[in-house]
Amino acid sequence: MLQGLQDARKELPSKYFYDDVGSQLFEQICELDEYYLTRTELGIMQERMAEIVALLGPNCLLIEYGSGSSTKIRMLLDALQDPAGYVPIDIAKEQLLRSATSLALAYPELEVLPVCADYTSDFVLPLPRKPVLRRVAYFPGSTIGNFDREPARHFLHQIARVCQGGGLLIGVDLKKDFNILHRAYNDSQGVTAQFNKHLLVRMNQELDANFQLNQFGHYAFYNPGQSRIEMHLVSLKNQTVRIGGSEISFKLGESIWTESSYKYTLEEFAQLAATAGFAVERVWTDPRKLFSVQYLTVG
Ligand code: AVJ
Repeated sequence: MLQGLQDARKELPSKYFYDDVGSQLFEQICELDEYYLTRTELGIMQERMAEIVALLGPNCLLIEYGSGSSTKIRMLLDALQDPAGYVPIDIAKEQLLRSATSLALAYPELEVLPVCADYTSDFVLPLPRKPVLRRVAYFPGSTIGNFDREPARHFLHQIARVCQGGGLLIGVDLKKDFNILHRAYNDSQGVTAQFNKHLLVRMNQELDANFQLNQFGHYAFYNPGQSRIEMHLVSLKNQTVRIGGSEISFKLGESIWTESSYKYTLEEFAQLAATAGFAVERVWTDPRKLFSVQYLTVG
């Protein structure tokens, strides 16, 4: 965190939003009217579930990257034919164990093998007892949008190695009217602002920092040249903040870049997937073409 704050352009990794409280704030975002992503993705999944499970086939091992509350996976589990197991991977341990426990109770036939890890780093994939016909990664929510181009390619390539002979079911948010995008990241209830500031709360609690929450502003906008939402925390005055034994100075208007959320056209994403070794097998969208669910395969 210090390193990111000592850069000329201050920046923090968005994965640190997701401790227990941050994950709950994100769940709250997913329920907002303005945040069309979750609702739209679930609608597509519901509508197309028969086709989806036909492509995934029987006895697949489901590996979910960033499983969160493991809500979306239930739709898949309800429809899939005899899955070999479910591996939820998440950085937020309490939520991971809570959801894994409740899932195991709801699906007694299913072997649930949770992995607490930063899924961009190397982790050991647990082996289920049942035989596995193919490995299928599940990466919903358009979290791929958090990655810059090269890290996105690298990460998809990592998944391709894990899922060779299988596939990746992924949610990808699409380019659209800037105003719709803007509203999704600037909700009227201020939940997204609270989620953004949660990084400051965590540094205060865990890194002995003294950020004043009301001296930083939530600032999110769509950058059309870079095809991404940028989320920032902007300093509302000249100030110095202590973090442990270090001090960080902020000028009025200086920002900490806390998240990017890239938006794709279907063509752009197919190109990215191809450079990572994936072929786009099938794409499903909602009627307004706000969001896409895609099944990619790797030979
Ligand atoms: C979970 C990364 C997909 O980028 O839309 C929601 C996180 N940030 N509101 C997104 C988020 C602000 C979300 N992802």
